[in-house]
Amino acid sequence: MTPKRVIIDTDPGIDDALALILAFASPELSVEAITTVAGNVTVEQAARNACAILDVIDPHPRPPVALGARQPLKRALRTAEHYHGQDGLGNLSRFKTGEGKPRYPDPRQSPVRQDASTLIADLIDSAPNEIVLICIGPLTNVAMAILAAPERMAKVREIVIMGGAIEVPGNVTPMAEFNIYIDPHAAEIAFSSGLPITLVPLDVTEQVILTQEQVEAVVRPIGSRVTQFICDSSERLFGYIRERRGCAAIPLHDPLAVGVVIDQSLVRREPLHVEVETADGPAQGVTIADRCQIRAEWKQPPNLQVCTEVDAGRFVRLFLERVCRQWS
Ligand code: BDR
Ligand code: CA
Repeated sequence: MTPKRVIIDTDPGIDDALALILAFASPELSVEAITTVAGNVTVEQAARNACAILDVIDPHPRPPVALGARQPLKRALRTAEHYHGQDGLGNLSRFKTGEGKPRYPDPRQSPVRQDASTLIADLIDSAPNEIVLICIGPLTNVAMAILAAPERMAKVREIVIMGGAIEVPGNVTPMAEFNIYIDPHAAEIAFSSGLPITLVPLDVTEQVILTQEQVEAVVRPIGSRVTQFICDSSERLFGYIRERRGCAAIPLHDPLAVGVVIDQSLVRREPLHVEVETADGPAQGVTIADRCQIRAEWKQPPNLQVCTEVDAGRFVRLFLERVCRQWS
């Protein structure tokens, strides 16, 4: 089996970290680059976190990490440290080794000089119809690449986007999902680009849940560097969610976007026409999907394949098996 060549565009982020771990643990994928974008944290912190996560995983070969957009296209950045911690990874500096040294020292790898949107377009252009772009942060880098190099981006095999809320409430405003809300203008550029896009919205990602019990029973006993990182980075978030929702369970939003590329039979996709509300106001960032029960010829043609159902149990089992494997 030839692995699928993927670029992961990300704003790590605890669930982004879990998505990266899943990707590197999966022989179906070859991660060719990690590009970072401002979202959960600033882009500098996102790139630092991507490099720190690579230190934990220590893959061979190591993909380049690129810095991307510092700000959404047209509006001010809003980050999510309240959810992911000050560093975006659950405040890792509090963890020490037996000798009192930081368990997670400064990253060994530095970002490359090329910026994220250029690297994305270059890689896609160099391998027509091969690269799958997995976007698990706001879509600023992707939109910039589409605006700057539409012909080169047209050579992408597929773009898989974690984002949006079709028939369920939002997670940052009553109706908007975080990645789309943070840069709705970028999302609209991506959605209207005509490129082959699969959307992995909250409708499916909120069904795939990692509980603190699973982490304690299944992940912690493995005792690898990677599983220790999963326990450390998720600890604070479990407390945060338990306080607000009454149960310690993290939705595996970003890992599911990777899962869809690993095994497309995990989800059911529906072709839908989806637009993004970009105007200021209570509906900003809302993904409006046309599910009108009228004949197709009277509707706008579908622009996205939207994941509307997921085999949640099978995905969570796959996730746990992969992240708990023996890491070299
Ligand atoms: C998305 O928002 C971010 O906080 C997560 O990392 C994920 O990409 C879920 O709405
Ligand atoms: Ca993310």
